[in-house]
Amino acid sequence: MKERLLSLKEEALSELSQVENQQQLNDLRIKYLGKKGPLTEILRGMGALSAEERPIIGQVANEVRGAIEEVIEAKQADYNAAETNARLAAETIDVTLPGRPAARGAVHPISKVIQEIEDIFVGMGYTVAEGPEVEQDYYNFEALNLPKNHPARDMQDSFYVTDEILMRTHTSPVQVRTMEKMKGEVPVKIICPGRVYRRDDDDATHSHMFTQIEGLVIDKGIRMSDLKGTLLQFVQELFGKNTQIRMRPSFFPFTEPSAEVDVTCAMCGGQGCRVCKHTGWLEILGSGMVHPRVLEMAGYDPEVYSGFAFGLGVERVAMLKYDIEDIRHFYTNDLRFLKQFVHL
Ligand code: DAH
Repeated sequence: MKERLLSLKEEALSELSQVENQQQLNDLRIKYLGKKGPLTEILRGMGALSAEERPIIGQVANEVRGAIEEVIEAKQADYNAAETNARLAAETIDVTLPGRPAARGAVHPISKVIQEIEDIFVGMGYTVAEGPEVEQDYYNFEALNLPKNHPARDMQDSFYVTDEILMRTHTSPVQVRTMEKMKGEVPVKIICPGRVYRRDDDDATHSHMFTQIEGLVIDKGIRMSDLKGTLLQFVQELFGKNTQIRMRPSFFPFTEPSAEVDVTCAMCGGQGCRVCKHTGWLEILGSGMVHPRVLEMAGYDPEVYSGFAFGLGVERVAMLKYDIEDIRHFYTNDLRFLKQFVHL
């Protein structure tokens, strides 16, 4: 019986040495170690052996079994490793491939222009003020020398919330709020960017909501020439140092005298073109010397103090700067439009 076991071992090891794949290994495992295999059969026949033989044969049988198992396990380990390697190779990630760029947002062109204008005025010693978009009739009109029933109120058709509260129609109420806060102190030197609302039908050049930047300076001895010098300095920083301004007499209830200010057309350098309607000039803001009534109502003695103010349309400036032909582009949030400002 011992011989049978040893020859069984030889046979098994020689067959195992020729195994070529996992399937063959499985088959041999069943053939030699399975319930119906020769080893099991031999062990089952041990009962017929004498008491002296039994432990000896038992030991040989265990050794044979152990030897076969060892070879099978080693081969199995090889197959497992090969399989793992094959999977790793198949799933390899090429870390040198260029990545997909993350989509980057962009600063909105209106915000960009506001920031640029703020920088220019902060450089001239101004601070940036803010005020509410939902405003009291008093600040929006009354304190700006537009009493109830004043004909100039017709100039601005407004969104009223109640009789006394409305969406501000301009940023000028922040002038009044600032003066109240300053309680008669000078100098006052602020700009105020913000949204304003009017009952306009939207088209290429009108929007019911748009953006203004208000400016206000009050001190002793402020003159119209200070306004002109300030605005010239401003437009030359914004549009380039060859830019000129032109002041045209105008009317605003809160300034006296009042002027509308044009800049030389940046598109044609003043030669005349489609954008400036062949005039060479573009209107960008309203301005004037703060009306004595406005100073007085806000607590500044017009005999002692004077000031200038201006109100600028941000969309108009952005449209000129970036050659945008329709104001509605700013508000429809079309990514094809907004993406053009990522790298500006
Ligand atoms: N608030 C005026 C408007 O919305 C613009 C304006 C004109 C503002 C003259 C001013 C100013 O501060 O002095 O049309």
